[in-house]
Amino acid sequence: MKIRPLEPNDFDAISPVIDEWWGGRPVRGLLPRLFFEHFQTTSFALTDEQNLAGFLVGFRSQSFPSVGYVHFLGVRPDVRAKGYGRLLYEHFFSVASGLGCTEVRAITSPVNESSIRFHLRLGFRLLPGNGEVGGFPVSLGHGGSGQPRVLFSKQLASKP
Ligand SMILES: CC(C)(COP(=O)(O)OP(=O)(O)OC[C@H]1O[C@@H](n2cnc3c(N)ncnc32)[C@H](O)[C@@H]1OP(=O)(O)O)[C@@H](O)C(=O)NCCC(=O)NCCS
Repeated sequence: MKIRPLEPNDFDAISPVIDEWWGGRPVRGLLPRLFFEHFQTTSFALTDEQNLAGFLVGFRSQSFPSVGYVHFLGVRPDVRAKGYGRLLYEHFFSVASGLGCTEVRAITSPVNESSIRFHLRLGFRLLPGNGEVGGFPVSLGHGGSGQPRVLFSKQLASKP
């Protein structure tokens, strides 16, 4: 098991499988090549025996430097529930903390209950919204008209 920075070439392997990894939802358009080119120091690939097992795309906020933001995180369907998603997030927490971040944020769609449960297990809290979907607070219209999103935040332990 190895975690390495994401590389531009990874786009060609990851982009075609994203919709399948997201259960058939058409989300690949939300992850253009630019993320693989310009966010390499805070984005990672997880490999097992050279094969891609998961990836995380994140960055340090330009507007709020104390905030790290995770835009995409996916684990190959056949290797889920083995702790790989947690491993990727914990690596990001460590890198973000080293950059001076004290908080990590992420969002997800309320239909993605598995992602919500996963984030809660990792210690994220749900930020208050202006609506509710499926019992979860959402920010209505966050992703555009009729596109509510669940917003997460996690405080990072400060580095000694
Ligand atoms: C969400 C996802 C990344 C989780 O990856 P994973 O490798 O299966 O998760 P892990 O095995 O590391 O699980 C970490 C913790 O979350 C919990 N968890 C994971 N999925 C869960 C679910 N559906 N329901 C409840 N808990 C869940 C695990 O039990 C584990 O808890 P523990 O460490 O306290 O025992 C993976 O399911 C995925 O790629 N889904 C599709 C893409 C997606 O929705 N990404 C997130 C939004 S960007």
